[in-house]
Amino acid sequence: MAVNQLQLHDNGQLRHFLSIDGLSQDILWKIIHTAERFINEDDSIRKFPLLQQKTIANLFFEASTRTRTTFELAAKHLSAQVLNLNIAIASMRKGETLLDTVLNLHAMQCDMFIMRHIHSGAAHFLAKHLPEHVALVNAGDGCHSHPTQAMLDMLTIHRYKGDFAKLRVAIVGDILHSRVARSEIHALNTLGVAECRVIAPKTLLPHDVDGLGVHVYHDLTKGLRDVDVVVMLRLQQERMLSGLLPSQREFYQQYGLTTGRLSVAKPDVMVMHPGPMNRGVEIASEVADGVHSVILKQVRLGIAVRMAIMCLLAGNLPEEK
Ligand code: NCD
Repeated sequence: MAVNQLQLHDNGQLRHFLSIDGLSQDILWKIIHTAERFINEDDSIRKFPLLQQKTIANLFFEASTRTRTTFELAAKHLSAQVLNLNIAIASMRKGETLLDTVLNLHAMQCDMFIMRHIHSGAAHFLAKHLPEHVALVNAGDGCHSHPTQAMLDMLTIHRYKGDFAKLRVAIVGDILHSRVARSEIHALNTLGVAECRVIAPKTLLPHDVDGLGVHVYHDLTKGLRDVDVVVMLRLQQERMLSGLLPSQREFYQQYGLTTGRLSVAKPDVMVMHPGPMNRGVEIASEVADGVHSVILKQVRLGIAVRMAIMCLLAGNLPEEK
C-alpha cells in the first residue's frame, strides 16, 4: 500500500506520520506553523493541556536519547499520559512479534504509538495493522526515514534563516546510511529550497542519489562554497556492512568540518547536526560549540515539532498566538 494511502485520511489530514516522501508542502507548513505556536520569543516551549485524554506509548526498539526524551517531553507538555517501553530488552528477547507487542498495548487503550525500529519499513508495516483510531509516529526506521527529525530541522532553518527559496543547504557525510538525510532532502525540496547539496565520498552515497533532486559534491571545500546552512552527519558505523572508509582519521582530514573549511560558506552560515555527534570525526569542537552552531537549539525545537505532530494526529490544535 502506498505510504500516503496509509498516512493520510481521505480528507488529506494526517492519520499517521511515517515518511516525508510524498507529503504536500501544505502539510509540512502546517506542522511548522503549529510548532511555532508552542515556542515563546526566547525559544522556550509553552505547555498546553491539549491531550489530557490521550495515552501515548514510546516504543523504542533501538537505542535513542534525544529523540525518545523529546517525544516524552512533548507528550508531557500536552498533558498526555506517557508510557516508556524499553522493548529491546523485554518482549523482543522473549520472542514476541512486533505486532503482538503492539496489539497488547492497544488492549491497554493506548491512543498513539511513537516507534523507532532497526528495520526499514517497520513503521509502514505496523501502520497497516493498527486499529482505526490509533495513530503511529515513525521515530526512525533503519536507513529509511526519520520524518520528525527532518521537520525539526525545517523548523530550525525557517526560524533562523527565513525563506527556503533563498537558501542553499549542504548535507555532509554518511548519506548512504542516514535516514535523516533522506527525509531532510524530501522536506527541503518540497519546501522549495533554492539548492540542496550532498557532500560525501562515493562509497557513502546511495546508488539512487541522482534521482533525489540534489547536487552531489565529493570535495568539501567546493561543496561548502556560499552555502547558508550545513547539516553534518555522523558516520553510522553500526550500519556499515564492510569497510567503506579507510579510517576515521582520513575521513576527518577530507570531510571534517573545521573553522577553516567553513570560511568558504556564507559569513552567517548556520551549522546543524541531528546528534549524536562525534567530535574530531565529522565535526571539530570549535565548530560544534562555535557561533554558527545551532545544534542544541535544534534539540529544543524538536520538542515543539513533536508536540505539533501529536496534536495534528489527535485533531486537536492549539489556538493561534
Ligand atoms: C539520528 C538517528 O537516530 O537517525 N539521530 C537522532 O535521531 N537524533 C542520527 C544518528 O543516529 O546519527
